[in-house]
Amino acid sequence: MYELLEEFKVPNNSRRVAQALLSGGEFGRPLMVTPGTPPERVKILRESFAKALKDEELLAEAKKGRMDVDYSSGEELETLVKEVLDQPREVIEQAGRVLLEIHSRNVFPEMKIAWGTYPNNIGHTESPGCFRCHDGKHRSDDGAILSRDCSLCHLLIERIGEAEAGGRDSARFQVMKNPHPVDIGDSWKEMLCSECHGASP
Ligand code: HEC
Ligand code: HEC
Ligand code: HEC
Repeated sequence: MYELLEEFKVPNNSRRVAQALLSGGEFGRPLMVTPGTPPERVKILRESFAKALKDEELLAEAKKGRMDVDYSSGEELETLVKEVLDQPREVIEQAGRVLLEIHSRNVFPEMKIAWGTYPNNIGHTESPGCFRCHDGKHRSDDGAILSRDCSLCHLLIERIGEAEAGGRDSARFQVMKNPHPVDIGDSWKEMLCSECHGASP
């Protein structure tokens, strides 16, 4: 992203707009309270949160679910918020126009449709999709189980024998042993992809 901004010599204000809109990722999963919450209560919440994230039981639970725990303090996030919000007027107006454009392409109030109104059932990653029936449990009228075996619909292959064939020229492949891009144990076999990848309710 930053390389592209460089390459196309994007003007400084547009760059700030892009950075502000993309900054969401840097916040992780922050917890917020409403403006005007008394400082002593904010302090209690911040201290308890920091303490909770050191709790052994919680850490064990996170490890079991293969979730990374990477704590950022309330103070750090507050600094980040101030940095992102502290923009010249032109940048705020430009960001407003960009958000309006994105919104008008995704949300149609007169039709009561927003991007999350209907799930996209092509595939099975962000919504159950094909796995609504192909879940290894449903049966068709003739009693056949609707398999969710990946090879029913995909040929997921990986290269083998690179070393002996002398590097990347090897043309030998095998069916992937673990087709999920990051190690999540056997969860990709047992859970619906959308349980982890779906939109939050
Ligand atoms: C409403 C239920 C339902 C949904 C949703 C569904 N299928 Fe099926 N699918 C079936 C049934 C029933 C069969 C026939 C299984 C049988 O009798 O052997 C079938 C068979 C198949 C077969 C043939 C393999 C076989 O076992 O016979 C393929 C391939 C397939 N479906 C792909 C897909 C894909 C891809 C999606 C998602 C885009 C999808 N299906 C979604 C019900 C469904
Ligand atoms: C019933 C058929 C079916 C089965 C079974 C199935 N898939 Fe898929 N899968 C699809 C379809 C259809 C798509 C969407 C293709 C598209 O959007 O062009 C898809 C998409 C994907 C993608 C791309 C997801 C993304 O968001 O980029 C991955 C990865 C994937 N499948 C892996 C798997 C794995 C692993 C399994 C076994 C656990 C599996 N699939 C089982 C039909 C199936
Ligand atoms: C237990 C939770 C979990 C389940 C179940 C799961 N995933 Fe993932 N998946 C993850 C995590 C965590 C990552 C890494 C996220 C990242 O790097 O942003 C990931 C990354 C991915 C990626 C690469 C990054 C991306 O979003 O494009 C794809 C594609 C993907 N998963 C597809 C699938 C498919 C298809 C299934 C079902 C067969 C599945 N996942 C089931 C947790 C899960």
